[in-house]
Amino acid sequence: MSEKEPPNLELPTCGDQPLWDISLGAFNLPALIVAEEVGLFPFLEKTPATPKEVAHHFSFNPRAAEALLGVLASLGFLAKYRRRFHITEVSRNFLLPESPYNWGTLLRAPPVIPDLCSAIKGILKMPEDKMGERAVEVFGKLKEPGKMDYEQVKIIAEKSHVRSLPAALAVAKWGDFKGVNRLLDMAGGAGSFCIGLALRYPEMEFTVADLAAICEIATQYIADYQLEDRISVQAVDMFEDEWPSGYDAVFFSNIFHDWGRERSIYLGQKSFDILPSGGRIYLHELLLPDTKDSPPALTVYSMVLLFSTTGNLFTAGELDELLTECGFEDITIIHTFGYHSLIMGKKP
Ligand SMILES: C[S@@+](CC[C@H](N)C(=O)[O-])C[C@H]1O[C@@H](n2cnc3c(N)ncnc32)[C@H](O)[C@@H]1O
Repeated sequence: MSEKEPPNLELPTCGDQPLWDISLGAFNLPALIVAEEVGLFPFLEKTPATPKEVAHHFSFNPRAAEALLGVLASLGFLAKYRRRFHITEVSRNFLLPESPYNWGTLLRAPPVIPDLCSAIKGILKMPEDKMGERAVEVFGKLKEPGKMDYEQVKIIAEKSHVRSLPAALAVAKWGDFKGVNRLLDMAGGAGSFCIGLALRYPEMEFTVADLAAICEIATQYIADYQLEDRISVQAVDMFEDEWPSGYDAVFFSNIFHDWGRERSIYLGQKSFDILPSGGRIYLHELLLPDTKDSPPALTVYSMVLLFSTTGNLFTAGELDELLTECGFEDITIIHTFGYHSLIMGKKP
């Protein structure tokens, strides 16, 4: 046990959306430049189109095309009407090549962000079977401690912890955990959610499962709060290893959106298999609205996920359908903190 007093945690008094908006706003200009360069605006002026039609016309990856169109709509350059994207007045006036007010040259004038433009162009042209190769490479290095520089591993864990800790307090405050005794936090990172829940529910026990190198860091965070007696840590590759059992709840935060629908179904079904009747699944997620065209921070994040991992943000309806397909019922959803929501389903 550490001798230090554990930090005292209160839910922040305001949301963190302005920070999401500013940090992800770095992708707005590159997304607009790429759209302008490939000729998206004159194409949509003549032919309002669905994401599939845009992907077909430009030979783009369909998920990447849908993500880019969502970004442009959330920024006001496109509008969605009956499934098709149309140009808006601002695009008609300032982004069509024949317009005397065309901003094309100005957009590309320094300071442009060439690496981000290349990243967006890269995913637009990426075949579906190549998506996620980078994530597999990065996460592969986390399976054994020592394969990745320790400082880098710490940064990966710290990045999610900073965003997850206030959300964890909100999940514990607003979520329904009545009757949950043992919770498995799969791909639980630094253990932020187990820490938040453990502070509010003194009877509950937890396991944080993650790749081995991250588990080392989680152990330290848990010790900082003197919660090692109630939160255990276990190295698990959730796609390759046997899952631990004996839990009445499985919790995933910011995981389904990393992996796309097919692999998320696998995670949902594995959870279903290890849970008893009445057991619960929790998904803590950033959700897009059904139209997938707002707000800018989330449409951009959904596009960025395509090259940082391989997923996209889901809508509430998509996750409801996905959990139902895995066998869960009584699916509920509540807002938690900032842009996050908590979805819960029960095994019949
Ligand atoms: C975005 S972080 C989320 C962490 C935590 N759930 C949170 O919201 O704070 C993604 C986590 O997934 C873990 N992860 C990636 N691939 C995994 C795998 N195959 N098995 C287990 N964990 C994995 C990463 O190590 C990382 O901690």
